[in-house]
Amino acid sequence: MALINPSILSADFARLAEEARAVEGADWLHVDVMDNHFVPNLTLGVPVVESLSKATDTPLDLHLMIQDPDRWAPQYVEAGAGSVTFHAEAAAAPVRLAREIRALGARASMALKPATPIEPFEDLLPELDMLLIMTVEPGFGGQAFLDIMLPKIRRTRELISRHGLELWLQVDGGVSASTIERCAEAGADVFVAGSAVYGADDPAKAVRDLREKAEA
Ligand code: DX5
Ligand code: ZN
Repeated sequence: MALINPSILSADFARLAEEARAVEGADWLHVDVMDNHFVPNLTLGVPVVESLSKATDTPLDLHLMIQDPDRWAPQYVEAGAGSVTFHAEAAAAPVRLAREIRALGARASMALKPATPIEPFEDLLPELDMLLIMTVEPGFGGQAFLDIMLPKIRRTRELISRHGLELWLQVDGGVSASTIERCAEAGADVFVAGSAVYGADDPAKAVRDLREKAEA
């Protein structure tokens, strides 16, 4: 299985509904929420997610790069998100937060910045539906893929298998036709791609090409 989640961070924000439809066939639409505190960039918030969820049938995969996700994540579920990812570095009570997201009916997911190891979170994995390993420093689209994250992806896949868990392993940052195979080989199964999809002449075709490479 390979899920391809285009990131609307690389889309035209004045035409979000249209841009969402341009990637029909994608599994989820990845929505990056940035608050200019957790990361040095600012994007969008709850009202935009609410409108976007009404404008597309593709489920929304929210990536919260914000401080205090404990307070905000539930509001994104209520706004229509099907999956909500909070950062391990920002959550005050990750287990309680994951349970709350699930109780509200969405998939619960936790993200790790490049310098955050997976090992301290091993016991939390059963509380999650997905783990996101950042393959760039969060904050901006279009950065170069960090190859040095491949061992972490591999170790995380081993932990997931050892515990017999079902959770998805997502990679985000610099994922493209030239890097996706390495991610898949290391054990990722959900692939976020911003510039590689929205920077292409035909975004829907870019999604199909990425899927083919990931499943090869
Ligand atoms: C970066 C965001 C990513 C971003 C990826 O902090 O989390 O989702 O959109 O963009 P690309 O695929 O261009 O690296
Ligand atoms: Zn993201």
